[in-house]
Amino acid sequence: MTVTPTSVDEVTAGLRSAGYLPGESTALVSYLATRLGKPVLVEGPAGVGKTELAKALSRYLDRELVRLQCYEGLDEAKALYEWNYRKQLLRIQAEREGEAWGTVHDDIFGEEFLLTRPLLNAITSEKPVVLLIDEIDKTDQEFEAMLLELLSDFQITIPELGRIEARSMPVVLLTSNNSRELTEALKRRCLYLWLDYPTPEHELEIVRLHAPEISETVARRLIEVVSMVRELDLKKPPSIAESIDWARALLLLGAEDLTPELFRQTMSIIVKHRTDLDIVAERVGVKLGMAA
Ligand SMILES: Nc1ncnc2c1ncn2[C@@H]1O[C@H](COP(=O)(O)OP(=O)(O)O)[C@@H](O)[C@H]1O
Ligand SMILES: [Mg+2]
Repeated sequence: MTVTPTSVDEVTAGLRSAGYLPGESTALVSYLATRLGKPVLVEGPAGVGKTELAKALSRYLDRELVRLQCYEGLDEAKALYEWNYRKQLLRIQAEREGEAWGTVHDDIFGEEFLLTRPLLNAITSEKPVVLLIDEIDKTDQEFEAMLLELLSDFQITIPELGRIEARSMPVVLLTSNNSRELTEALKRRCLYLWLDYPTPEHELEIVRLHAPEISETVARRLIEVVSMVRELDLKKPPSIAESIDWARALLLLGAEDLTPELFRQTMSIIVKHRTDLDIVAERVGVKLGMAA
């Protein structure tokens, strides 16, 4: 049985039990999405928990996750459905003697010859699912327009088959890393959630969830340093994903404190551009040196 939450607090607790620590607005928007049946557009920098939110919601709501990973050039054939040409050809070749073309035609445009892709699967599933349309900003506006239609009516028309209506209502999350501005039309149809780097307290909790054995001292220092690094003008500031990786690495190395030396040795876990490394080594390295 899928879960239907009855309050924001319930969603907070549910997501937590699914291994995701939501901020206030995350829990609120997730709750509204499940109750209003509206898609959520989740925007924010890379590595702040956008994709994971959809996964956690699927675990908590006990719905299967259907994921459409977007990329440049993604089209309807890969996202929605396409005809199985090879199978259709075989059917035509196996044409029985004297068979009318009309019969063959009806046959090869029947459901048996249809290849369903994530979007169609999500709306035709008997059991309600969580549909994750990940990194929508990588597709073009044409694709966005197609999606709009699907998300507003929850039905599609396949010329040869007719209208296909949703059998169940998915909880829909679209994520974007902001690489391009999405259309107003899309935004209008969605609830909006901006996910940013968390507060130090929140991030500390997330890191401890993923690396429970880490010592209090190291965890606090790590968060402090990561916040410091984020303040610098870097090409790619470290995300939660990097904080977690760093915590796990420090744990493996048996670190008891974050010394300047250890920082120099491991900072490439959180900073991954040559020029960024130079900036961080200079600015943060010096600060740590003074503190030690
Ligand atoms: N609120 C959170 N609670 C628990 N883990 C989180 C949270 N936010 C981020 N994470 C962790 O951070 C990592 C990166 O998250 P991800 O969803 O892949 O980022 P994004 O999709 O925004 O680029 C994942 O390992 C995820 O488990
Ligand atoms: Mg992601």
